[in-house]
Amino acid sequence: MALSDQLTIGPASVDDLDRLAELEAAIFPSPWPRDALAAELLPSATSSETEPPAADRLLLVGRSTGETVGYALFHRVLDEAELLRLAVSPSFRGRGFGAALLAAGLNRIVSHGARACHLEVGAENTAAIHLYERFGFVEEGLRKAYYRHGEDALLLVLQPIPAA
Ligand SMILES: CC(C)(COP(=O)(O)OP(=O)(O)OC[C@H]1O[C@@H](n2cnc3c(N)ncnc32)[C@H](O)[C@@H]1OP(=O)(O)O)[C@@H](O)C(=O)NCCC(=O)NCCS
Repeated sequence: MALSDQLTIGPASVDDLDRLAELEAAIFPSPWPRDALAAELLPSATSSETEPPAADRLLLVGRSTGETVGYALFHRVLDEAELLRLAVSPSFRGRGFGAALLAAGLNRIVSHGARACHLEVGAENTAAIHLYERFGFVEEGLRKAYYRHGEDALLLVLQPIPAA
């Protein structure tokens, strides 16, 4: 577990799933159901003691005062990774928790061999775009009217991912 201010970050477990599904439903217009989140806890490749696996799923949760307040989900295959989810409970935003979850996930995937991290973000999602730009993500594409409500998606990439 890594500590950042009052946030404790570590891998998600089965005990987190109900809370994560609740946060998904509260935060995202197309929330992932509990079963989809549960699938992210399964190992995606066999690993050895000495070498990282060829692929990982990384679901990190952040806890503050005993409550799960945010999470981040990455997939990695060899040297390419994708950030699929990053969210902080609305009442815990603006305290650096989103940045801490993003940094913790990037550190982990880079240590397993990722050299690039891709993501999609709503073109009107100013808070998230500022956060990603602060980390050095740059635009690599645009999907017009990608989301169900008609918003465009920006495709961002961080490459190379700076070492911690
Ligand atoms: C995006 C999100 C995870 C940020 O979480 P957070 O804990 O509030 O973020 P932090 O406190 O770590 O802020 C980090 C940076 O984000 C940016 N940021 C955060 N809130 C912002 C806001 N309301 N307006 C503009 N920039 C903002 C700033 O660049 C900030 O850096 P600074 O502190 O140097 O100004 C959170 O707003 C969230 O859960 N949003 C809903 C889910 C979502 O849209 N996820 C991204 C999907 S791709």
